[in-house]
Amino acid sequence: MSQLEQLRAAMGRAGVDALWISDAANVRYLSGFTSGKDGKVLVTPQDATLYTDARYTVQAAQESRVPTFIARPPATLEHAAPGLAGLRVGFEAESLTVAELEQLRTYWPQATLVGTAGLLSDLRMVKTPDEVQAVRDAQALADRVFAQVRPMIRAGVRELDVALEIESLLRRVGAESAFEIIVASGPRGALPHGVASDRVIGDGELVTVDMGARLNGYNSDMTRTVAVGTPSPEMARVYRAVLEAEEAAVRAVRPGVRGADLDALARDILTGHGLGEAFAHSLGHGVGLMVHEGPSLRGSSEDVLRPGMIVTVEPGAYLPDVGGVRIEDLVLVTEDGHEVLSRSEKEAV
Ligand code: GLY
Ligand code: MN
Ligand code: MN
Repeated sequence: MSQLEQLRAAMGRAGVDALWISDAANVRYLSGFTSGKDGKVLVTPQDATLYTDARYTVQAAQESRVPTFIARPPATLEHAAPGLAGLRVGFEAESLTVAELEQLRTYWPQATLVGTAGLLSDLRMVKTPDEVQAVRDAQALADRVFAQVRPMIRAGVRELDVALEIESLLRRVGAESAFEIIVASGPRGALPHGVASDRVIGDGELVTVDMGARLNGYNSDMTRTVAVGTPSPEMARVYRAVLEAEEAAVRAVRPGVRGADLDALARDILTGHGLGEAFAHSLGHGVGLMVHEGPSLRGSSEDVLRPGMIVTVEPGAYLPDVGGVRIEDLVLVTEDGHEVLSRSEKEAV
């Protein structure tokens, strides 16, 4: 089934005849139009139309897989109104502002507007072969960049300069950083989201580097914690515990496994090492057009892994004022197990 056919089936289950898609990633996913934030897609029982404006006339013609209507709102809304009369029209409650909803109400008085959630994000969890290739390419680039940057992670170098080098290598090949690069050295390693600062890396420290490439709209996400010199016995022990939890969780990735069970598996191992409290976030998340998307690998998740999903496995342990470790791999769920897409070496600390 095509993406559009699958979406119409999901719309049927949600009780809507048409869907006004305003989320930028969803617009791109359905239409192929790469400037999704400047477009909307309307799916009706018969058609799907991309609405964008005259800045994108050429680009939309080149990229869009669905017919395009070029105008600015409210002309777009007036154009759609006759076809929507009497229909239940879904909107994406998570990405439409209240003001935009009021505008839809004004221009589509004959339609019944219905808030929906997750119709596209459920579809997007399972990647098409082209999407798998796109994430694979982004991760392969990130692996190359990490290998190039690894030698500069040493005592006397600022975290910022490591991040800048990663960013510049990505930009030079037409990619960009998928998110703010995390370089957290020594005690800053205790910050799970320690974006690179002007701190100078010291001898004997662990350094956590969390980086991703965004290439052709698709993201990668990987973390390595590396040692500069010889770390303290305490931090070496924490590193080995996180590595054990990470490798065990990756080994368990296969179709049919629940995200919540993977989280519990890693958490139990860290708890066994006295680090349960130090693992302050969930185990992982899906990656695709967004760095963070479904499925969720957290304790409260109801998601069950299926072939074609791409998830991170990223346990960590964070000790305030002391330091921290996170190890994150990007993992494709295959028919009979998994394939680890992130190939960067994990150091023996
Ligand atoms: N860099 C964000 C994450 O790993 O989820
Ligand atoms: Mn990450
Ligand atoms: Mn992640």
